[in-house]
Amino acid sequence: MNPASGLVVVGAQWGDEGKGKLVDLYAAEADAVVRYQGGTNAGHTLVVDGRKTVLHLIPSGILHPGKRCVIGSGCVVDPVALAAEMDELAAAGVTVDPTRLLVSFAAPVILEVHKRLDHAREASAGAAKIGTTGRGIGPAYEDAVSRAAVRMGDLAAPERLRRRVEALLFEKNALLRAHGRPEVTPDEIIAALEPVRERLLPFLGDAGASLAALNADGGRILFEGAQGALLDVWHGTYPFVTSSSTVAGNAAVGAGVGPQLVTDVLGVTKAYATRVGSGPFTTELDDEVGALLRRVGREFGATTGRPRRCGWLDLPALRYAIRINGITRLAVTKLDVLRGIDPVRVCTHHAWRGQPYAVMPGVSDAWPESTPVYESLPGFTEDISAARTPADLPANARRLLAFIEAAVERPIELVSVGPGREENVRFAARTDGAP
Ligand code: IMP
Repeated sequence: MNPASGLVVVGAQWGDEGKGKLVDLYAAEADAVVRYQGGTNAGHTLVVDGRKTVLHLIPSGILHPGKRCVIGSGCVVDPVALAAEMDELAAAGVTVDPTRLLVSFAAPVILEVHKRLDHAREASAGAAKIGTTGRGIGPAYEDAVSRAAVRMGDLAAPERLRRRVEALLFEKNALLRAHGRPEVTPDEIIAALEPVRERLLPFLGDAGASLAALNADGGRILFEGAQGALLDVWHGTYPFVTSSSTVAGNAAVGAGVGPQLVTDVLGVTKAYATRVGSGPFTTELDDEVGALLRRVGREFGATTGRPRRCGWLDLPALRYAIRINGITRLAVTKLDVLRGIDPVRVCTHHAWRGQPYAVMPGVSDAWPESTPVYESLPGFTEDISAARTPADLPANARRLLAFIEAAVERPIELVSVGPGREENVRFAARTDGAP
């Protein structure tokens, strides 16, 4: 990273691309790491010295001593889950104190009632359910934009907190009744917050001001995206999306800084594709290859434990993610998982009524009619987990990476070949003037 630069790391698929590992890696060169959207729906898995840590809300920079971690106003914060995550980190020997973590006082709060409503809606929707993580994300963001949310700063003012909770429950209880669920009382909501309320107050502050000051001093900011491009509420496979904007353009908004602080965008994609929850996924595999990817890639949700749907890499979808995010370079994760699969297939375009179809299926009403068209590439059988330079990779693995680069016109700068922090192949920076 350059001095005073701001790199955004975004998921270029449906989340679970391995952003946490990339953020942990790039955090070594940053001064601050900021989460700008989402909440505890995220599950960022980090493996350092063989020890696994799964973070849901605290930025993935927390494992680097001395890096400032910030939870921006664009996140929805579950105070009880945040305190529990701090406890888990403490048990793993990582101290999270106010010198390390700042939480925006403007971030909307996820309350118990949001989680209940999330579950109630999914149960009522039956087969049409979104497949949410059940963490109350949608209902919490709804309250933010309907100007009814409790925000983190309200934890410091108990009377205001009670007024806000009472006002909120007037409508929320009507919704719970509509779904045949019991109502909740303000006392229940406030009692759930009470054990952590005082504890969290020292962490609250002005996230945007802190980041702007750091940038003014030449500090480098890493913006940590959660979920992925195709789960973006505006640009994803709506309605099967999350309730926040996951794209890089939202990094400045959610962090509370000007867009000039974002100077580069790294997109993370797996060498294949996964999706958890409902919604279109045209390259999904229901066969033994899909089962193999799930087993070898350990494709089970980091937050919910649900098995992930698995399929081939979708290049039109990746091009779409590149466009809506402004991705300049790529990291490809889990290349090792493709070992032994022959051929490896990659979707190059989609056919619709017999014609090549340029628009990303799933963001158009026409998606059910399109069919993926694949290129078959020869696979590799070698164990690549010890590869650290491009020359260590088998020729067929290099060919696959070159094929992806050429198809999406972006350089791949890092390839992950295992879950560990050091299990990566780094590519030299391109000198041919590519973007
Ligand atoms: P919600 O964000 O819990 O409302 O879930 C909405 C959709 O986004 C569901 O399909 C979830 O499975 C998906 N989703 C939310 N967060 C993540 C994530 O971190 N990784 C992968 N999928 C996610």
